[in-house]
Amino acid sequence: MTPNRSAAPDLQALVRAASLAPSSHNTQPWLFRLRGWSIELLADRIRALPVNDPQDRELTISCGCALLNVRIAAAAAGLQSEVEVLAGASHDDLLARVHLARASAPLADAELASAIAERRTCRERFAATAVDPRTLQLLVQAAASEGATLTLLERSEQRLGAAALVAEGDAVLWANPSWRRELAAWMHPRRRGDGLTLPALAVPLAQAVVRTFDMGGGVAASDRQLADESPVLAVLSTEGDGARDWLAAGQALQRLLLLGVRQGVQASHLNQPVQVAALRPRLQELAGCAGPAQLLLRIGVPARALPAAPRRPLWEIQIEG
Ligand SMILES: Cc1cc2nc3c(=O)[nH]c(=O)nc-3n(C[C@H](O)[C@H](O)[C@H](O)COP(=O)(O)O)c2cc1C
Repeated sequence: MTPNRSAAPDLQALVRAASLAPSSHNTQPWLFRLRGWSIELLADRIRALPVNDPQDRELTISCGCALLNVRIAAAAAGLQSEVEVLAGASHDDLLARVHLARASAPLADAELASAIAERRTCRERFAATAVDPRTLQLLVQAAASEGATLTLLERSEQRLGAAALVAEGDAVLWANPSWRRELAAWMHPRRRGDGLTLPALAVPLAQAVVRTFDMGGGVAASDRQLADESPVLAVLSTEGDGARDWLAAGQALQRLLLLGVRQGVQASHLNQPVQVAALRPRLQELAGCAGPAQLLLRIGVPARALPAAPRRPLWEIQIEG
């Protein structure tokens, strides 16, 4: 693409939009290098979760979400973006380069921009409102347009099976003291700007409890109920299981989440059956996905407005030159 160099775009606005993407444990494992008419996306592997995510799979999916936000914010700024995928090319942290150019006409993706700041991970029970089947079809198409597959678990035995796998996953994860320690390490007061937030005074106690006790039984029971009661359960899967697939899964996830926000729905994760290696093929089989499962999502209409999770300041995630 040949950029019009007369008016340099505001790349900071694109990075700000990227920073609002979801990420596992709210680690925000990304860095952006601004290069005039291009932005490079790098994995910030210091923020990896080696126990929960030993292959950096979720880390790369999170970066894919941030990449989609860059593309959407660019479209809203009248910029066409072309993504050069570099993930998987080497062991480098450089995942993608977004080349920007002035668009000659309004871009359809601009419509999703307002949803970037309105999206939330909704871990609570959803309202008892059914999700419109047309909305679900739009979400399926959104995932497909980014090269991933969203499979809705529509039959009751699929939903019950998925809920049972979530409970089984919880039991395995919580029984692992290293996993609990890692979770506790990312429980932060809001002012830290990252992690799973708790009121500042509650942090030391909550961390100690999570580190010390296997609460798998209780968590499994409540997650199972959440899964059972969710208006929609869906599996996001990809063709392969490498860094390029994970980056695509992230872009697909974020596109369907933003589209969902515009239709009045939000989502949250029940990824335990993907995080426990032995359960992952069982989830794939249960959903009937052609490729490996990447995420298990609950989707519904939120019962109340939720506060935004904190984000790191831009100066921490931006590299110049
Ligand atoms: C790849 C990925 C995996 C995630 N896994 C979980 C999960 O297992 N459980 C959960 O409650 N939230 C999960 N989340 C949601 C994050 O915790 C959430 O995005 C983060 O706390 C920031 O909050 P926000 O999405 O409301 O901005 C995941 C998000 C991503 C992108």
